[in-house]
Amino acid sequence: MRLGVNIDHVATLRQARRGRYPDPVAAAALAELGGAEQITLHVREDRRHVNERDLSLLRQTVNGALNLEMAATDAMLAIALREKPDTVTLVPEKREELTTEGGLDVVGQRAAIARVTKALQAAEIEVSLFIDPEIAQIEASKRAGATAVELHTGSYCEAKSASARKKELARLVRGAKAAAKLGLRVAAGHGLDYWNVKPILEIAEITELNIGYSIVCRALLVGLENAVRDMKELIG
Ligand code: PXP
Repeated sequence: MRLGVNIDHVATLRQARRGRYPDPVAAAALAELGGAEQITLHVREDRRHVNERDLSLLRQTVNGALNLEMAATDAMLAIALREKPDTVTLVPEKREELTTEGGLDVVGQRAAIARVTKALQAAEIEVSLFIDPEIAQIEASKRAGATAVELHTGSYCEAKSASARKKELARLVRGAKAAAKLGLRVAAGHGLDYWNVKPILEIAEITELNIGYSIVCRALLVGLENAVRDMKELIG
């Protein structure tokens, strides 16, 4: 299983003070040392966490794959064509503003998504679409020309009961199988953590996970004791 580490949350912390640290570029280097095969970042229209400086430096420093999540807009397309990440994952821009919001509506926006996909592929950038595990969206992704999909695991992760979680897992299994059958590379992500990731590993068609929040949160807690010790040593 390939692991893509999403470093947006490191930049969110930096932006809380608009300072120099923690630098998501430094975090990406450490994630790679830890074994991440891919670094994932989402440059948003409002640049609320990572920005173009981060993208540009990551393009110059990441050794493995660089996966840029972005909206299917002309402004973002221009940035992607300039920086040339290995993969672009098209995502809905307003995602996360409402927790219930799902993946990209490829069925409803196929022409626009197909146009951006074609332009990216002409520059040899792989295109993945972040979608809910729904057959119609998977088929539309294939028709739009994408060669990969990232299945949104948010509903599975947020399921409140064991039966709801089982139902969401079954949707992911069906979606992953359908996507693989169409020849699409299948990734998954959003909300995965140290407690809910295991059942996802049993879905053979899923070959990549993109995980951010839970890893950054764990890093904070496993690192805090040493950080305090360092400060105590410094101040005596
Ligand atoms: N996949 C996509 C498409 C994302 O946008 C994100 C970040 O929101 C993730 C995966 C990682 O999600 P999380 O930070 O919840 O692990």
